[in-house]
Amino acid sequence: MSTMRAQLSLLALNLLPTLIQAYHWPSPLIDQLEGLLYEGKQEGLPDRAVDFVAQLNGCQPVEDNGESIAADWIRFAYHDMATHNIDDGTGGLDASIQLELDRDENVGGDLDRAKFDFIDFPNKYISYSDIIAMGVVLATVECGGPVVPYRGGRVDAEVAGPFGVPTPDQSIEDFIETFRKQGFNQQEMIGLVACGHTVGGVHNPDFPTLVPPGNISFEDNIVMFDSTPEFDNVIVTQYLDGTTGDLLVTGVDGNDTLSSDLRVFSSDGNITMHALASPQNFSATCGSLFERMINTVPNNVTLTDLITPLPVKVAGVQLAPGYEGNLVLNLTMRLLDNKPNRQISLHWADRNSTTCSSGACSSTPTNSTVVTTPLLTALGHPRAVKYTFSAPISATTSISSFWFEIDGEVQNNGGTGYIIEQDEVLWSRDRSASILDPVTFESGFLIVAAVRSSSSSSTERVWINTYQRTTATGVHLTSTLNLTLDNASFPSTAGYDFYSAKLLLVADLTFDLFAEIGGKVYEEELRDTHWIDFA
Ligand code: HEM
Ligand SMILES: *[C@@H]1O[C@H](CO)[C@@H](O)[C@H](O)[C@H]1NC(C)=O
Ligand SMILES: *[C@@H]1O[C@H](CO)[C@@H](O)[C@H](O)[C@H]1NC(C)=O
Ligand SMILES: *[C@@H]1O[C@H](CO)[C@@H](O)[C@H](O)[C@H]1NC(C)=O
Ligand SMILES: *[C@@H]1O[C@H](CO)[C@@H](O)[C@H](O)[C@H]1NC(C)=O
Ligand SMILES: *[C@@H]1O[C@H](CO)[C@@H](O)[C@H](O)[C@H]1NC(C)=O
Ligand SMILES: *[C@@H]1O[C@H](CO)[C@@H](O)[C@H](O)[C@H]1NC(C)=O
Ligand SMILES: *[C@@H]1O[C@H](CO)[C@@H](O)[C@H](O)[C@H]1NC(C)=O
Ligand SMILES: *[C@@H]1O[C@H](CO)[C@@H](O)[C@H](O)[C@H]1NC(C)=O
Ligand SMILES: *[C@@H]1O[C@H](CO)[C@@H](O)[C@H](O)[C@H]1NC(C)=O
Ligand SMILES: *[C@@H]1O[C@H](CO)[C@@H](O)[C@H](O)[C@H]1NC(C)=O
Repeated sequence: MSTMRAQLSLLALNLLPTLIQAYHWPSPLIDQLEGLLYEGKQEGLPDRAVDFVAQLNGCQPVEDNGESIAADWIRFAYHDMATHNIDDGTGGLDASIQLELDRDENVGGDLDRAKFDFIDFPNKYISYSDIIAMGVVLATVECGGPVVPYRGGRVDAEVAGPFGVPTPDQSIEDFIETFRKQGFNQQEMIGLVACGHTVGGVHNPDFPTLVPPGNISFEDNIVMFDSTPEFDNVIVTQYLDGTTGDLLVTGVDGNDTLSSDLRVFSSDGNITMHALASPQNFSATCGSLFERMINTVPNNVTLTDLITPLPVKVAGVQLAPGYEGNLVLNLTMRLLDNKPNRQISLHWADRNSTTCSSGACSSTPTNSTVVTTPLLTALGHPRAVKYTFSAPISATTSISSFWFEIDGEVQNNGGTGYIIEQDEVLWSRDRSASILDPVTFESGFLIVAAVRSSSSSSTERVWINTYQRTTATGVHLTSTLNLTLDNASFPSTAGYDFYSAKLLLVADLTFDLFAEIGGKVYEEELRDTHWIDFA
């Protein structure tokens, strides 16, 4: 299986040259999806932000009930995709599952729970369905399965889709027709079911006639499809050698009403199952079928290019006034290998020039951290490394763009440099704070922004737009809040005045910051309150 994985990663690497040309920073959707996919957690977020990958518990069954989180995520994605209709190009992986959980075909507390595992990650760029799809990639690789190539750009449905998820009591003719409608032929159906049922199992509350009730420590009483929690072909070999514990094969007491896996697996005389008994065939088949499963979207949705690991990944960029009369540029830069004694520096140009008039526009990393995730490791990057910069920038000359020198080689975002669009309005992340009113017990955040003092006479308005999850289907603009001059709390410095506003009774959210100055609107978008230190 590891050989196959190496081949898959070579395949992915071969695609890289074209993608490097296509990619240009900033690309908010790609940048964020890449960060979540390869680092597991959104850029710069502290401990209280949920770590997407860590939720999988290293593919180990959850201690108190034996549940496989990886299985929950894979089943969730399949049940969402299952309402695709190839005949009219509607439905597919579109997050409509959230609106369909009360249907019998979606029985299971695992689906209700999986819904909440994903809820922290969508924002105004990232759809909930992109996160469901990413869950399949992360769950599969975390459990030792193949690398499933990933694209973004899915669009969330606003309404429930048609019924159409197969249930175990149906006939093989029904299954073949259901999978045809989803876009998969009979052989692919067998593969997809075997790949899905290599993890997880059948639960007592959902199928009490198959699974006996549990005991106190295992209330849900899950009977696993095969004897290993990993993403492997044991589901196939145990089926073929007659040792399977898969209740959807064996049934109970000779009753095969719910033996859907037996009907599916044997429907071509076991030919496909015999092929899948090869670990290489199993891994490659599951990789390609899962890719097609997560890319099954309505015809009017266009997915992005493949999101491969960026060789130079810039993130967490924040320019803001420091406390010593200068500006500070914070950012991280990730490389895919951890070469020892690497010489690395950050460089920048004056705001109104392409050069550095003071001759003092460079900085070195403050520290570095090795980044190791199952997906990066599977792609041959077991020790990616992330450098943190906190560069002092002259407040008089400011900054227009930055770039890196890595062992004497310039990395400048394909020639343009990494452009800082504007320095008129900046989020002062470190002056912002979490707050708790001692009287009303209202909690929330004090948001502080810096606006150039030279623009103060023409500053018409400073405000933020907040985005939150408001409906079952997604993240929307929820409020607009004006910031007012707050020089009593925050004395002007580095040529900037500070504006503030209280955001009360909110959980963490993302926001866009704006200032209207002399009739022109400046913006710093997609800031995240997770970045604010908790008092
Ligand atoms: C004929 C088609 C299928 C039928 C009839 C079927 C039926 C079932 C049933 C009855 C369960 C037990 C659910 C519970 O206890 O709540 C189950 C679990 C599961 N199914 Fe399927 N399934 C089918 C296809 C698929 C496919 C195509 C996938 C994914 C590619 C998939 C992924 C899963 C997973 C991962 C679980 C375990 C969930 C857990 O342990 O929480 N299934 N399936
Ligand atoms: C409870 O159920 C689990 C899983 O089926 C089993 O391993 C364990 O032995 C059971 N404990 C008792 C006291 O029956
Ligand atoms: C077989 O199982 C099905 C589904 O659990 C059930 O409805 C049916 O009554 C059972 N048949 C017999 C003969 O026990
Ligand atoms: C397929 O394999 C299963 C499990 O070994 C066996 O019960 C069944 O008879 C086989 N079917 C055919 C058509 O070979
Ligand atoms: C797996 O084996 C089947 C049957 O020999 C073959 O049709 C299929 O192409 C193989 N799949 C992969 C990915 O090797
Ligand atoms: C795609 O088509 C569906 C159904 O016609 C429509 O509801 C949806 O808004 C369309 N989505 C996009 C992204 O155009
Ligand atoms: C590197 O510096 C950043 C910013 O000061 C800090 O958050 C991070 O924990 C540091 N990492 C290590 C490994 O010291
Ligand atoms: C850049 O030039 C503009 C227009 O001349 C001026 O208003 C601004 O203060 C300059 N900024 C810096 C940082 O020198
Ligand atoms: C920039 O990073 C430094 C060092 O970690 C930190 O002390 C400071 O608060 C950060 N500033 C902003 C605006 O994030
Ligand atoms: C915010 O400020 C603008 C411009 O001054 C004003 O029109 C608007 O009513 C204010 N909004 C709120 C909610 O106070
Ligand atoms: C704050 O700004 C106002 C308006 O510009 C000014 O009148 C006041 O003196 C300033 N206060 C401080 C403490 O700087």
